[in-house]
Formats: sequence, C-alpha cells, structure tokens
Amino acid sequence: MYNLLKGKRGIIFGALDENSIAWKTAERVHAEGGKFVLTNAPIAMRMGQIKQLAEKTGSEIIPADATNMDDLQNLVTKSMEILGGKIDFVLHSIGMSVNVRKNIPYTESNYDFTEKGWDVSALSFHKVCQVLYKNDAMNEWGSIVALSYMAAQRTFPDYNDMADNKAYLESIARSFGYFFGKEKKVRVNTISQSPTPTTAGQGVKGFDGFIAYAEKMSPLGNATAQDCADYTVSLFSDLTRKVTMQNLFHDGGFSNTGVSQEVIEKFS
Ligand SMILES: NC(=O)c1ccc[n+]([C@@H]2O[C@H](COP(=O)([O-])OP(=O)(O)OC[C@H]3O[C@@H](n4cnc5c(N)ncnc54)[C@H](O)[C@@H]3O)[C@@H](O)[C@H]2O)c1
Repeated sequence: MYNLLKGKRGIIFGALDENSIAWKTAERVHAEGGKFVLTNAPIAMRMGQIKQLAEKTGSEIIPADATNMDDLQNLVTKSMEILGGKIDFVLHSIGMSVNVRKNIPYTESNYDFTEKGWDVSALSFHKVCQVLYKNDAMNEWGSIVALSYMAAQRTFPDYNDMADNKAYLESIARSFGYFFGKEKKVRVNTISQSPTPTTAGQGVKGFDGFIAYAEKMSPLGNATAQDCADYTVSLFSDLTRKVTMQNLFHDGGFSNTGVSQEVIEKFS
C-alpha cells in the first residue's frame, strides 16, 4: 500500500455484501489510509452484511435512500461531524432497475418502473452532487466517482433500461463536473466497469454468457471488482487532480476491441 488517501475523508454508497464493488473499494480505501462513512438504503441494512465491513474498517454507517433529499442532507451533515471536516471523496455505487427485476423486456417497459429505476440509478447521482454542492461539503481537489457500464454507448439488449440510466448518469458527471470544477475545484467522473459478478450484475438476464464473452473479447481480460477498487483509489488520490468530466473505461480493453482471436475461432 502507498498511503495514497492518508488524511482524506469520504462517503461510500452501495456496499451490500463482499462481492459489491463498493465493498472492495471501502477495504482498499481503508488500506490506503482513508476514513469514511458507509451508507446504503435502509432496506439494504437489513439484508446486507454492511456491519461487518464497518467493523473491519472502523467506519460508521448512516442509512440513506439515495433518492431522498432529506436522507442525503442528514448523511452529509452527519458525515462531516463524524469525520471531523469536509469531504475529499465520494463513491456512488448504486444501481437498480425494476423492469429488469421483473423480467419486463425493454420494448414493453412499465414507465412507473422506468421512473423508479432512473431515480435510483441515475438521478440519485445528481441529488448526491447537489447536496454536496449546496452544503459546500467538498474540499478543494476532492473527487466524486460513480460507476457506469458500456451499454451507455453500445447496445446490450438484456441490459434493458439500465442502458438509458447509465447514459444519463454519465451526462450528469459531465454537467455537474463543470460546475464543481469551476466553483469548488472538485473532480466528477464515471468509471465504466467490466461485467462483474455482484448482486446487481447477476440480476441482468444472460449474465454468465455476457461476462464470459467480455472476458474473451478483452485483451487484458475483464476488470474485477478488486481492480475497480484500485482504479477508484487512484481517482480519489492527488495523482489524478486534473481528470474530470470523463467517462473512464475500465474493462481490460473491451471497449476498443472489434473482435478477438478467441471469438473468431468460435465462429470458424
Ligand atoms: N456488476 C456489474 O456487472 C457492473 C458493471 C458496470 C457497472 N456496475 C455498477 O456498479 C455499481 C455497483 O453495483 P454492484 O455491481 O457492486 O452491485 P451491488 O448489488 O453490490 O450494489 C448495488 C447497490 O445499490 C444499492 N441501492 C439500491 N437502491 C438504493 C437506494 N435507493 N439508495 C441507496 N442505495 C441503493 C444497493 O443496496 C446495493 O448496495 C452500480 O452502479 C452498477 O450499475 C456494475
């Protein structure tokens, strides 16, 4: 470890269980000397194992539904009290589609479900940014990261309305990134991560085929949740202070590969 986050304070959303990308990130941030508050939706507190993670990393947990502005205000206020000052890093690692959960095809979207999924997966990022911005809660040269997927740019039919949510999420990083950069010298980016075997990932129909295909298409192989944690730490660190308003592909080269030898062999 390199002490990259020594003295830095943060908020980490979305650690549900030990497979979660946010869980791995919390462990890695802890190892790099960062202190943070863990948060998740109140319902996830009952299902998840977040307490174990809190004990392991010496962190406190503050429940917050990321779609609820009062919850977010409480989270930000209390986090600054607990951590003893303004925030240096925030991870938004949140996703959920009701249409996906209910196996409703994209062409038959139920729009109440679409709106709910959009609020949780995309708009919540704007809400988090707005509460941080209005409270002037971020330190200069702080860093805010959300997690995305390449279905924002290219069609993966079974990713369903999450593709639209990710496109919106990435746009928020650019738009809020402008204001956060100008006014507060804070970075806002999304990481576009390889398919990863987590609760949210495995909810996507045909996930096993999906992840195996991506593995064969990526010159470096799929990026794991652990790899994603490492990359996120680099974006929280002072080594990437001028990286902002970007969607950063973290996928072993998948996004720039037309075809791989392994895939050609399958069809020859
Ligand atoms: N797993 C993959 O294949 C993959 C690939 C690319 C990007 N991502 C993204 O990574 C992020 C993290 O997902 P993961 O794969 O670690 O799965 P995960 O299921 O472990 O995490 C998703 C989290 O979202 C939380 N959440 C849902 N509704 C919420 C709400 N209203 N308020 C607060 N939190 C809420 C859940 O409780 C859970 O902790 C998501 O944005 C996901 O879309 C995942």
